[in-house]
Amino acid sequence: MKTEVLAEFESNLPEDDAHPYRSGPWRPQHTERRAWDLEVQGEIPRDLNGVYLRNTENPLHLPISTYHPFDGDGMLHSMHFADGDATYVNRFIRTAGLQAEIENGGALWAGFVESPADALREDGWGARTRMKDASSTDVTVFRGSALTSFWQCGDLYRLDPLSLETLGTETFAGGFPAEGVSAHTKVDENTGEMLFFNYSTEAPFMHYGVVSPAGELEHYIDVPLPGPRLTHDMAFTENFAILSDCPLFWDPSAMEAGLYLPRYFPDLPTRFAVIPRRGQTSDIRWFEADPTYVLHWINAYEEGDEIVLDGFFQRDPMPRPPKDASFEQVIYSHLDLHSLQAEVRRWRFNLTTGATTEETLSDRVMEFGMINSGHAGRPYRYSYNALPTQGWFGFNGIVKQDVVTGAETAVALEEGQFASETVMAPRDGATAEDDGYLLTFVSDMNADSSFCLILDAADPAAGPIARVAMPERISSGTHAHWAPESVL
Ligand SMILES: [Fe+2]
Repeated sequence: MKTEVLAEFESNLPEDDAHPYRSGPWRPQHTERRAWDLEVQGEIPRDLNGVYLRNTENPLHLPISTYHPFDGDGMLHSMHFADGDATYVNRFIRTAGLQAEIENGGALWAGFVESPADALREDGWGARTRMKDASSTDVTVFRGSALTSFWQCGDLYRLDPLSLETLGTETFAGGFPAEGVSAHTKVDENTGEMLFFNYSTEAPFMHYGVVSPAGELEHYIDVPLPGPRLTHDMAFTENFAILSDCPLFWDPSAMEAGLYLPRYFPDLPTRFAVIPRRGQTSDIRWFEADPTYVLHWINAYEEGDEIVLDGFFQRDPMPRPPKDASFEQVIYSHLDLHSLQAEVRRWRFNLTTGATTEETLSDRVMEFGMINSGHAGRPYRYSYNALPTQGWFGFNGIVKQDVVTGAETAVALEEGQFASETVMAPRDGATAEDDGYLLTFVSDMNADSSFCLILDAADPAAGPIARVAMPERISSGTHAHWAPESVL
């Protein structure tokens, strides 16, 4: 392996940091590298051409008081595959917040479980305000640039998808909304448009927008809600966008006291907004369903009079912590997808009758589902879901789920190995939905190293096609993206 150090950053985190989300599989990196001539076990397929991007929550500084893993500074990782070869790069996203904190030598903004009043700066980002836009949640590729985003709403940072150089913030040709943009922007490969939403503490509390293939904000409407909400993800079909109002949101009475405490209201329904993709606020149709919280949708499509939406229903969105649990144990218990009991559910919204029906597609605990992105918004058959670890936030396996037959193929990683969000990369010239590869970065605590694992998407249980070594063990994180060579 040949490596080049691109930059080294000074951190004030302790050498022997024992924080559960800054150590072990969550240990952050503070060196940026480019690496090539990578050691490969097996062979990198020659028909795998494009870039696997992965965002991670990778803190540089100690928090003001209490760290939550979703506060970590964004560090992007890329593995670029070309003609049977691979190049790796990792770089911090040069957010305005990170740059200000580097100048300050420490944290300036309060994190998710800290009070906004704790922030050392009056300004900031996020639906809750006075947060740092860490841009560490999600990543997509739009118009040839990687765009990273922050779950609490903020800017979209533009990066070169290969060098990972930060190029600035996205402007939508001057139309970027003052309310910011949430994570989980959706690029429709079939139209070239980007769909997005945001949420805030000010009425109407949510907006929905469409960016044209030329990069201009062409559509932006109010999605009025009864109050501030914590919607995390959206879905779309060929003709509709789907937003949600789950009954888990900041407790309004605590908010009056300046505290932002998520609370579950099981007596309220989950509400879904079905919006014609270029429709107005008055065109929104609302559907009601069982109360839950949904972190991520898998896909949606149209079928006759119905809209079909698949996602991860949580049976217990706010599990009761043990009596003697500390504040930190309480907040981290909400990161355990097993205690939230996240399972695959299908909702159907009938546009003729206005009725909602819902059914469980699998009672296995899974989340972070990825599909062949050419099928986004269209009928599909396969999703590739993460198997969460027990007791904390991490992934230690992958499940290929056939949503037509219900068949599931599980691939468990070895003890001590942790996956990232696994993407499906279609083989060059593929026609079948699962003709391609599954890619995931694996952090191996046993060998103190990371590698990119390549599996056959048609038969992931057949074993690795290749393992591509990386220069340093990387941190866990949340979202990843596959961009074929044709869009780079
Ligand atoms: Fe997410």
